[in-house]
Amino acid sequence: MDNINYSLLNKRFGQHGQVTFTKDLNGMAVIEVANSHATATLALQGAHLMHWTPRKQRPVIWLSPAAKFGVGKSIRGGVPVCWPWFGPHPTQASFPSHGFARTVAWEMTDTQAMADGATRLSLRLIPNDATRAQWPHATDVALHIKVGATLEMELVTRNTGDSAVTLSEALHTYFAVSDVRQIALHGLGGSDYVDKVDSGDQLKHQTGPVTISAETDRIYVGSTTECVLDDPQWRRRIRIAKHGSRSTVVWNPWIEKAEKMGDLGTRGYLDMLCVESANAAEDTVTLAPDAEHRLWVNYSVEVLR
Ligand code: BG6
Repeated sequence: MDNINYSLLNKRFGQHGQVTFTKDLNGMAVIEVANSHATATLALQGAHLMHWTPRKQRPVIWLSPAAKFGVGKSIRGGVPVCWPWFGPHPTQASFPSHGFARTVAWEMTDTQAMADGATRLSLRLIPNDATRAQWPHATDVALHIKVGATLEMELVTRNTGDSAVTLSEALHTYFAVSDVRQIALHGLGGSDYVDKVDSGDQLKHQTGPVTISAETDRIYVGSTTECVLDDPQWRRRIRIAKHGSRSTVVWNPWIEKAEKMGDLGTRGYLDMLCVESANAAEDTVTLAPDAEHRLWVNYSVEVLR
């Protein structure tokens, strides 16, 4: 049983039916958005966007058919918010991978029906004793999401304490693809990357688009420009624009790792590619007292005729 008052939330933030708070079939408290441009669903736990589908199009975001749902469990697929560290904690091996933001409760702070028909949602992470033990810093973190013909997300961290804070982060987006072996990811050619499948000791150099035919786990460093995920089989391109991010993570676990994970489904590795707008590896963010950092992305779809 959660102690969420759905009718109060619907009254306060409902936007005349554009935004609905409900408990879904998995028992998760979710926010459903439906407007003239798109539909979207977000779990309150983790502020985890689970789907975004522009009207008359295929889903853009992939959610695993074998995802596990529950209190404190990370959902496989969607857009996990990795914060305040990306990957393993730099010094504490027992702390959760990719930080705690994706598994703790967030609260709704605002919703807006925009003049252009889009819907804006704002959420804020609720710190608790466990998060304070793992992150003894005074920071506010908010996620703003604009559900429209494009999907915009902005992760805003403010240092409310009186000493500098260093963090890493990512919007760990799982994009739905026709067949990962058939797509090409443009925009990273000329960049160097940390290859986590290899030892990761030496930077490698990317020439041309990224294609996937084996396990891939890379942090492209100094990558600030947009990427385009070209999916000729589905006759579409997904444009991934960003600001406030100097690394891009490209991840697909491929067959063996996917089997071990147990929540990716049997052909999940073919159906998705993670392209994560991040500040990761050497690219951390240091915030002076009162300073703020914004990690912003915008996903748009170009349908090819
Ligand atoms: C990616 C990492 O961002 O996330 C991978 O680069 C990791 O190394 C993957 O395996 C999934 O992480 P998790 O914690 O969701 O299983």
